[in-house]
Amino acid sequence: MIQGKKIIVIVTASIAAYKSALFVRLLIKQGADVQVLMSESATEFITPLTLSTLSKKPVLIDFVKDKTGEWNNHVDLGLWADLIVFAPASANSIAKCVHGLCDNLISAVYLSAKCPVFFAPAMDLDMYKHPSTQSNLKQLQIYGNHIIPSEFGELASGLIGEGRMAEPEHIVEFIEKYFSSKNIFSGKKVLITAGATQEAIDPVRFISNHSTGKMGYAIAENFAQKGAEVTLVSGITSLPIPQNVKVVKAPSAQEMFEACHNIIEDIDICVFSAAVADYRPKEMAKEKIKKNSPEMVLELVKNVDIAATLGKNKKSNQTFVGFALETNNETENALKKLESKNFDMIILNSLQDAGAGFAHDTNKISIMTRAGKRIDFELKSKKDVADDIVQTILQEKFQ
Ligand code: CTP
Repeated sequence: MIQGKKIIVIVTASIAAYKSALFVRLLIKQGADVQVLMSESATEFITPLTLSTLSKKPVLIDFVKDKTGEWNNHVDLGLWADLIVFAPASANSIAKCVHGLCDNLISAVYLSAKCPVFFAPAMDLDMYKHPSTQSNLKQLQIYGNHIIPSEFGELASGLIGEGRMAEPEHIVEFIEKYFSSKNIFSGKKVLITAGATQEAIDPVRFISNHSTGKMGYAIAENFAQKGAEVTLVSGITSLPIPQNVKVVKAPSAQEMFEACHNIIEDIDICVFSAAVADYRPKEMAKEKIKKNSPEMVLELVKNVDIAATLGKNKKSNQTFVGFALETNNETENALKKLESKNFDMIILNSLQDAGAGFAHDTNKISIMTRAGKRIDFELKSKKDVADDIVQTILQEKFQ
């Protein structure tokens, strides 16, 4: 997978820089074309000579070479690479990338890059746990970067905890996995519904729910990263649009149904992750309702069940995946929905699991298939859960 790939390895200042020699060697052995970039302070931890010998190319550190006027072109480097990996990524380099600071060659290359960028953080455990670092890592992911999680073990300080740079072999596995899955859904059309719907009561009020849309957006992003043509029919969220995903805004259940109905014919895979309001006010008042009486009765009518309605005409070459968010009798309710909505798979979230469901960055799911299989997953970040879901769809339906 790595053979012939152009990879920029960025080494920043951390004691883990000594492991970058092994990492570069592994990439070269697998046939990658490696260009190493170092921050000035990283040269205190490992010599450029070591890394240039292993990568078979001079290491680049400065914009300008030896005051000759010759310079390292960050734009060309950013366009040349198939992949960039910060290994090790120090807390400082992570913070600079988050904020777009651009005072050296590596940050200029990062800002110019068109390819995927991976970060393998390395720092002491308290620095790693610090809310600033954790929020920076999240922000990098929001920008579409990939984080290779730090590992647990003894740190340079002698303390034991999380913060060690992932072992070079593990970083290589991450990169291999990325390249092997890159185009796996190429040619497939995917529809995702996500977010909460809003059902208007009057021009200023509505009925809705707590869904943030994070799970559906992460699934859309993951499919797009694997080469699918993705349409995200989105209810109300404040999330940024994932890269290479077409978004159709659909604030109400009826608008969401129409947006899906218009394109479902050509769709190969559909994941219904939206939290659709089951009922809407029978009439939307044209004017703001005044509080004239001590009590008020709102008459509601049932909304269209998008998944069930589209499921009735599902074609044999289409895969439909639904969600079930349950508070009790979870498995039984989820299995009923799997049948009644004609899903191929259902993803169960239980609100009884801490960290699962709405308003968290994490989720804990079980996937049940029509063929009677059940897979239980650990509590993970929604991005990792999205990867589990997409990988399961791949294994169960396309391999
Ligand atoms: N769904 C849908 N349209 C609706 C309601 C739900 O497409 N009007 C989809 C959801 O996106 C999800 C699945 O159906 O994939 C199950 O949704 P859920 O809210 O758990 O179930 P409901 O069918 O609404 O049943 P209940 O609220 O009674 O549990």
